Amino acid sequence: MAVSEIASDDVSGETSSRYDIIRQELALLSDWHRMRERGGFEKDGDKIVRSGAGRTRTLKPKHLEDFSDDDYEAYCQGHPSELTRKRFSIFNRFARSVCHMKAIARKEIFEAWAGALYVYETFLSHRALTLQQKRRPIKRFADLACSHGLLSWALLLLSLSEEEEEKREQSENQQQQTQQNYQASRPVTAVCIDIAMSKSSETAAGIFYKEYPQFCDDGSASVESPDNAESFSRWDYVEGPVENIVPHESTLLVGIHACGRLSDTIINLAISSNAPLALVPCCHSKKILTPEQAEGFAALLASKPSSSGNAPIPSYTLADFMDSMRKQRLIDAGYDVQEVWIPVEFSPKNRILLAIPPSTQLPSSAAIALTKPKPKTWGIPYFPIPLEDVSNARSVVRSVAGRVTADQRREDAHPPPAISVSVWLPQEGPQNDGDNDRDAISVQALQNVLNASDQDNTTNGSTPTMRVEEPQRKPYVNPTDGRISKTFRVHYLDCRNNKAKARARHKILKEVTIPHHFPNVVIRS
Ligand SMILES: C[S@@+](CC[C@H](N)C(=O)[O-])C[C@H]1O[C@@H](n2cnc3c(N)ncnc32)[C@H](O)[C@@H]1O
Repeated sequence: MAVSEIASDDVSGETSSRYDIIRQELALLSDWHRMRERGGFEKDGDKIVRSGAGRTRTLKPKHLEDFSDDDYEAYCQGHPSELTRKRFSIFNRFARSVCHMKAIARKEIFEAWAGALYVYETFLSHRALTLQQKRRPIKRFADLACSHGLLSWALLLLSLSEEEEEKREQSENQQQQTQQNYQASRPVTAVCIDIAMSKSSETAAGIFYKEYPQFCDDGSASVESPDNAESFSRWDYVEGPVENIVPHESTLLVGIHACGRLSDTIINLAISSNAPLALVPCCHSKKILTPEQAEGFAALLASKPSSSGNAPIPSYTLADFMDSMRKQRLIDAGYDVQEVWIPVEFSPKNRILLAIPPSTQLPSSAAIALTKPKPKTWGIPYFPIPLEDVSNARSVVRSVAGRVTADQRREDAHPPPAISVSVWLPQEGPQNDGDNDRDAISVQALQNVLNASDQDNTTNGSTPTMRVEEPQRKPYVNPTDGRISKTFRVHYLDCRNNKAKARARHKILKEVTIPHHFPNVVIRS
């Protein structure tokens, strides 16, 4: 089955025209930023060199002027609608924030923005309510395999703008916010999930929170649950695998550039919970095909005519084949699936599947076999990420979100190496000072010595690199000569994932540090 761009008979006229507006808007944006010319070749003296011409170059504060509202207004005077103008202004602000990150290639803001416009209009906008018929409004989305998470910020900015507009209208109409209309006007919240939380996602969060303080505190918690105010931030980032999510129909699943099988995993998660889904599959590979599918694809290619007069033959790719199967799976589960495209000059992996679930889940969908979450991913034990859009689940997500908790999970799963050292305590005798000598080496005494050596050796001084643990076992008494041995466990805190370094440090501890500072004890071999 060939995949074609928005077939006019499978979407309502209204939706189709809204997508048309977005398409025109993106074409204008592309022209204005010369995106088609970027990313090709440019002249370097007499030579033509491959340049990137800015498409893949990192945006920096010096590019702020490329996203000025004034220039844009002059460029398209009188052309676009009021809605388009407003969205351009939001885009410019979004892009200016990204320039401050100094980490993102130019093309990425266009990719994220194009994806966000289609996703927002289909699922999150107030205008989307007609499209979703009688479903509850969607107020939460999960950006799966989100990397830097730019798409989530673009979606939040679009929702913020609509929300502010609504507040203005409400105050003009002097409407009271009631619990009933709160559900519709409640702010959109986001959870980003990626197996590896990138540094750029943290930089983005810092910049967007500073630029838009409303994202941290909007007072909405007290409206929703006056007795148990939830600390309300609209955005969380959980480092963890997509397989850990517990999907729910109240939360939109978004997977942009979900590589290979990850796209299928996300489709399964959506169907199993009747959740709405927006997906941009990427990294199509024959390896994912079953033998029958591979045969089917080969047969389809063979059946295509090699020429047809002078008309160019529409190329049919592996991506077309795989995505049409994905689309069919969703349709079989009762979804209304629409297909739109990110302009190719923004991203060559550009097909977006927008899948609206049926109002009642088909029984076969609920029974779908999900990929079982692994007991451990990268050594980190399984933890659930519940996506239902209710206060409790959002709090659970909050409790597993962020850099600190991610580091803690990794630390708990991969503790730093610890190595024991045993020493013979000095024997009581006329030349020894009895109990004083026995206590000469203790956990505290050894820790003090190690802390002092940290102070001498490191520039950051105050962070200990070794921790001595209280011996668990009772001291050992040698039955032949009555000598007593004590064991200490030393944790090499800065040698995580580097046992060799810990062993080298331990050797120095045994051969140099202890003999020097505790001359009365003997290392047990
Ligand atoms: C091609 S990037 C897409 C990033 C982003 N959505 C975008 O469009 O720019 C794929 C991302 O998927 C993440 N990823 C791969 N497998 C994953 C899994 N099982 N669970 C969560 N994230 C995963 C990777 O860490 C990477 O950030």
